[in-house]
Formats: sequence, structure tokens, C-alpha cells
Amino acid sequence: MSDLASATLIVAAGSGERAPKGAKPKQYRSLAGKPVLRWALDAFAQHQAISTIQVVIREEDKPYYEEAVIGLDLPEPIVGGSTRQASVANGLEALVNRQPAKILIHDGARPFVSQDLIQRVVTALKSADAVVPLLPVSDAIWRKTKFGFETISRDGLRRAQTPQGFTFESILAAHREYGDFAVADDMALAEHIGIEIAEIPGEEVNLKLTNAKDFELASQLACGALGEVRTGTGFDVHKFSPGKHVWLCGVRIPHTLALEGHSDADVGLHALTDAILGSVCAGDIGIHFPPSDSQWRDAPSHIFLEKAASLIRDLGGVIAHVDVTLICEQPKITPHRDAMRKRIADILRIDFSSVSVKATTTDGLGAIGRSEGVAAQAVATIRLRTGAV
Ligand code: CTP
Ligand code: MG
Repeated sequence: MSDLASATLIVAAGSGERAPKGAKPKQYRSLAGKPVLRWALDAFAQHQAISTIQVVIREEDKPYYEEAVIGLDLPEPIVGGSTRQASVANGLEALVNRQPAKILIHDGARPFVSQDLIQRVVTALKSADAVVPLLPVSDAIWRKTKFGFETISRDGLRRAQTPQGFTFESILAAHREYGDFAVADDMALAEHIGIEIAEIPGEEVNLKLTNAKDFELASQLACGALGEVRTGTGFDVHKFSPGKHVWLCGVRIPHTLALEGHSDADVGLHALTDAILGSVCAGDIGIHFPPSDSQWRDAPSHIFLEKAASLIRDLGGVIAHVDVTLICEQPKITPHRDAMRKRIADILRIDFSSVSVKATTTDGLGAIGRSEGVAAQAVATIRLRTGAV
């Protein structure tokens, strides 16, 4: 008996030759703040019928992968091969010990797989050994020849998508037996071995990111999918006490005083943590990390901010932008501004360009003006699926 109902294999070991060149390989590039691969991972992780998700990657992409899967509970990734087919075969062999009954095989380059499509593959697999989502061809089809063009009939033509579903034993056997045949996808191998294939309708939005135009369209779709934009604000003040340095926005700044507080008293990170929590109505920092709890004594405040970021990730959302204002006469913030932005970006795992830190004084007015402490306020802008909270 197998221990898993429906496993998923996500192949992401390609080199993206046709994709526009960027800082990261195409599987890891950001779509509305979320890596391409993470979109598909979130979709499968969210689905009740999926029990395990095995990803196949390139060895050299490991650091990108680790960043993309943060917070998800996945088995160690498997290293792929020189073709998609070889990558799938490696993934299937890695799952043999787990003996899943069924398997869904999906391209990591298809971020917009819907819950409904996953469900329809799973349902169709109850009465079929192989299931493929197909779409009709609606444009006229022409073939270029030496003499000009000739039309091709659209009759019977279909575009194949993933996830393609199989009984595990049958697709494993097909890969083992016909692994040397170069084929387009797993369905083609299933055909070779004579497995009967059930067809279900694919989805237009379930596009595979291949070239530059696909990325443009995908950006628009991603912003639409994370259509709910929320804003949270945070505010915090800590007073000075004797000491030699302060922590502000995750950066240690030598000073003639320290800030007093239960943790490291980093007002900047505290205000920002509250802003993020506020964006999803998740209370405030004191609820998650009560000052009465001794484990938070002298705690470094990045722990609080990491927790807030993980709440957003668990909801499938992204932190689009944050803006922190430090209010103090001393110490001077400007020399440390970019270090603070970098530290916050690292903690939240978002782009440096999505983090703003600025500073102001109160013109000598009030307690802050008398240099009795430091105040901070923050705004966080979050993108979420509508109805996620
Ligand atoms: N894939 C893989 N191993 C390979 C080749 C492809 O796991 N050796 C994966 C890709 O990462 C992608 C999916 O198979 O998720 C579909 O492949 P494709 O869109 O062709 O991606 P690439 O091969 O990366 O792109 P290109 O063909 O432009 O190089
Ligand atoms: Mg390819």
C-alpha cells in the first residue's frame, strides 16, 4: 500500500535559454515579489489532495531554491538532468521509496496553475492512468515553406499543459522503458507504453514562461492574482539609557547612549513589524512576543520581523514595499541608511529597492527633541489573493 495519495513532481532544472537574461534564472525571477517557482509551489502546497511536493533543480541553483522555498516543508530537492525528460526521470526515481499511488508532474515554469485545475487532474486520475490538460488551437496555423506559406488544418490539434497526472507505477515504467526516446513531455512517453490517456480542459492562464513576452504577460497576471493591496502602519518609541551603542533597523550603531527595552529595543524594526502585522490584522508585536515572556529578554528584533514576514508568506502574499521613518536628534541616520535598507531587505527577503528608510528630527521639540529617546513609524504595503485574510 502506498503512503501517499497524490504526490507532485515539479521540474525546475532547465537553463531558460529562451528567456530574457536576468540576475536570476527564470524559475527564480520575481513575479509581483514572489519567485516564479514559488507560485506553483504555493498552489500545490495549498491543495488538500496533494501530499508531498518533490522539486527537481539544477545543482548551481540551490541558493535560489532555498530562498524560494522558505517556510515550506519540502523534501530535499533532486538534481535534474540535461533534458526535461531526464529531470523527470531523476525525480520519479527519488520518489520510488515513498511509493505514491498517483503523481502530478508539473513545469516549474508554469506559475498560474489553479486550484481548480489541480482538482480536475486529481479527480480524473480516479478513473484513468494518465490525465492531460489540453487546449484547442484557435489561431489559424501556417507552416513556412521554401515557396511561401501553407495552411495547416486546426482539426484535432491540441496544446498540452501540465500538471499531467499518472498512476506512479505506469509513468515510472514508461520512463524506465522508453527513457532513451526524446519526447516532448510525459504524456508522449505514456503514449509509447500504451497507457490510455484521459483529456481534461487546460486553462489559458496556465501559461509556461518561455520568452520575454511571456514574462510581460505573467507580470500583469501576477499583479491581478495578488489583487488585494493592504497597508499597515506601526509606531514605537524607546528611551535612552547609559550604554555604548544602539540597534536601529537591524544595524548596530556606536553611540554615547543605548536604547532601553525588553529586547534589543530596535524601534525601527518594532515599528515595521507592527506595520506588517497590521496589514493582515494580526495584532501587534506584544501579542506575538509578550514582554512578560523571559525568552524575549534581549532578543534581537530581526526575530520579530521574520515572524511577521512568515505570516505574509503563509498567506501566499508578498510584501510589496516598506517605508520606515526614524525620528531622533541623535544618532545621525544618513550614514547608516543603506546598511539599514539592506538589512531589512535581507530579513524580509525582498528587494533592496522595495525598502525605504528615512529620518527626521522634531526640531528640538518634545521628549524626542530633547534627545531622551528615538521614535519610529513605518508603513508596509502587502499584496494578497483577494479573500486570503
Ligand atoms: N526542465 C528541467 N530540466 C531540463 C530542462 C527543463 O527540469 N533539463 C524544466 C524547466 O525548468 C521547466 C520545464 O522543464 O520548468 C519546461 O521546460 P522549458 O520551459 O523548456 O524550460 P527551460 O528548458 O529552462 O527553457 P529553454 O528551453 O528556453 O532553455
Ligand atoms: Mg527547455
